[in-house]
Amino acid sequence: MKKERTNFASKAGMIAATVGSAVGLGNVWRFPNEVQSGGGAAFLIVYILCILVLGLPVMLAEFSLGRGGQSDVIGVYRKLTPGKKWWLGGAIALLAAYTISCYYMVVAGWTLEYLVQSVSGSLYEVAPGGTLKSTLEATLAENVAAVWSPLLASLLVVGANIFILLRGVQKGIEKMSNILMPVLFLLLLILCCVTLSLPGAADGLLFFLRPDFSEVTPAVVMNALGQAFFSLSLGMGILVTYSSYFPKRDNLVLTGVTVTACDFLVALLMGFIIFPAVMTFGLGGNEAGLESTALVFITLPEVFAQMGGTQVWSTVFFTLLFIAAVTSTISISEVSILYFQDRHRFSRRKATLVVLLPLVALSPLCSLSNGALADLKIAGLTLFDFLDTYSTNFLLPLAALVTCIYGGWVLKKQRFVESELTNGGRINRFSARYTVFMIRWIAPLCLGAIIVYQLLYML
Ligand code: PFF
Repeated sequence: MKKERTNFASKAGMIAATVGSAVGLGNVWRFPNEVQSGGGAAFLIVYILCILVLGLPVMLAEFSLGRGGQSDVIGVYRKLTPGKKWWLGGAIALLAAYTISCYYMVVAGWTLEYLVQSVSGSLYEVAPGGTLKSTLEATLAENVAAVWSPLLASLLVVGANIFILLRGVQKGIEKMSNILMPVLFLLLLILCCVTLSLPGAADGLLFFLRPDFSEVTPAVVMNALGQAFFSLSLGMGILVTYSSYFPKRDNLVLTGVTVTACDFLVALLMGFIIFPAVMTFGLGGNEAGLESTALVFITLPEVFAQMGGTQVWSTVFFTLLFIAAVTSTISISEVSILYFQDRHRFSRRKATLVVLLPLVALSPLCSLSNGALADLKIAGLTLFDFLDTYSTNFLLPLAALVTCIYGGWVLKKQRFVESELTNGGRINRFSARYTVFMIRWIAPLCLGAIIVYQLLYML
């Protein structure tokens, strides 16, 4: 008898896992910064448009392929169009997922280092003869570029991935998400209440959201498109993989809207936390905006140092960051694991180890490329920057472009996407038609523009 495919056990678990993937460091440190330097509320309007024309339609296309194809990111193409080369689109997504996971484990490791240093209080011990700022700058350099601590931290993240993923979809990914996502939202709300009651809250919100349409340049629109894309975890095979575990009767449109709304909400709340705090203590306000990494790892600790309960708020914040990072790494590892399970018939255990054990060597290598191995350059970039730049800027939009062409044109005759989104013609007929129109015409245009823009930018 054919073995039943695993599904998420509950709707809540399914949403928690998918939101857990989408909510990552992209929301926490990139988004608030982009809003503030891209014209505040003006940027938000552009961003929402980007979600409507690109983000949500591509997400729904990926959901349709995954749930309809019931296989891994390459398998769905092979199954739906046997003997054709379309599976290469899935291969690009798989490659992107794996390369991103190499360096994202390292970044998740940084958040772990900061979490440990917040708990122990060592983050706030000012070096003799220095200021808090100079100490935090030195700590950032140390946490990123030193040999042992970032290396160990990234290995711990890989270890956490192995631990959770060995347990499988329901007992590992779903159970973890069911616990961690409510914790993340709770921490977010607590921090929001704290910062919104600071004396500079109104100024901070004004600084964050003041609508300035003159700031909305073509570059800002491209940023908004890229951010919508990265933040929703598109083009990495994650959504195809997770949706292959969605139940057949699930309302995909509703799930997509819920995930997108949660992702947007987290990003917005992060801005509500960061800017009131930064303004209250007079640490922001430069016209150019605050550089993202410095904002999270230097400016915010400076803020916490000036608040009562420094260590508590610092611990809360870095726990939040760590949860956001780990739930994203889990989702990206699952893409390759399902590939080995479905395509090569590996057991869960074997697939997990085959995917994650190489990262025990690759992630430290990425980590070292920020310090000891910084001279080792590929195309003029360190290994870390190379993987980051090429996978995010080219592989992701390319994989998504193939998904759109495939879902919109290649599977046009069987009305595959429509049928998945409407559950066989029963629901969501209007949104299905809208999605198909978007993935046929508008999303490929946007994705093409992103790729061309990146190419021009690189040259
Ligand atoms: N949506 C994620 C984020 O905003 O950080 C994107 C992501 C990156 C997901 C890396 C998974 C991952 F490993």
